[in-house]
Amino acid sequence: MIKKAILPVAGLGTRFLPASKSIPKEMVTVVDRPAIEYVVKEAVAAGIEQIILVTHTSKASIENYFDRNFELETRLEQKQKWDLLKEITEILPPHVSIISVRQPQPLGLGHAVLCAKAIIGDDDFAVLLPDVLVKDHEAINDLSLMIQRFDASKAAQIMVEAVPDHLVDQYGIVDVTRLPCEGESIVMQGIVEKPALGTAPSNLSVVGRYILPAKIMQLLEQTPQGAGNEIQLTDAIAALQQLENVEAYRMQGQTFDCGNKLGYLKAVLHYGVDHLKLGEAFKDLIKELEL
Ligand code: G1P
Repeated sequence: MIKKAILPVAGLGTRFLPASKSIPKEMVTVVDRPAIEYVVKEAVAAGIEQIILVTHTSKASIENYFDRNFELETRLEQKQKWDLLKEITEILPPHVSIISVRQPQPLGLGHAVLCAKAIIGDDDFAVLLPDVLVKDHEAINDLSLMIQRFDASKAAQIMVEAVPDHLVDQYGIVDVTRLPCEGESIVMQGIVEKPALGTAPSNLSVVGRYILPAKIMQLLEQTPQGAGNEIQLTDAIAALQQLENVEAYRMQGQTFDCGNKLGYLKAVLHYGVDHLKLGEAFKDLIKELEL
């Protein structure tokens, strides 16, 4: 079973300035909690027990968020604010731990994943890119389906979704012989990082959720700089695919790219209207806008 997940959070979030100037982009709130909490909870819902943050000196507030805050807890206890106390102490279930490791230089996603090599050891693992929020479709957790499929097939799983043709140069794109159904995994023929328009093998983009075998770390060590002069995870997956089957899993849920401002606003709308306590009032607010 996959129990470890790497979350690369060292990026400076230039696409999200000015919001990300003095707080990590992962700490920008979606409704009433930071974006990173949704991603961590997605991993926990899929059975992950150890979250490995690959982080940067400017990102300590992420670690603080998942840590206890003695002063705040004492104050809430004194004021008998039990609901709030429960909220801040039960962000993670007790069996889940958060570990962090630094990425000392911005050398790319592949390099960020490699920074967690010593913690991963011989274990297969998940990678979740926190810019993208994945919202379940009818309580189906795509990541847990990928883990089940990995356990059964032993083939690495790469979550994909269809994107419009004019956007393929912004993503990793997989090469497949046919379009998989939603919820289906099929063996891929190749994968390429940010292909130029008109050259992409399909319009199935890599969403930012991966189930990978431990041996990808050795491949990452040998991966030269690729697109954008960075060490690309996509290139190591392409190398893995030369050795064994790698599968593209077509997701069922919905993605929100919180790395860009409009994607972020869309996430706030969707998570806002579905919020247990605020949803109905939020819908009324939207109606009041009379657009
Ligand atoms: C990364 C990956 C890319 C993937 C994308 C998803 O790119 O390298 O393959 O499609 O995340 O968001 P980035 O957005 O970091 O440039």
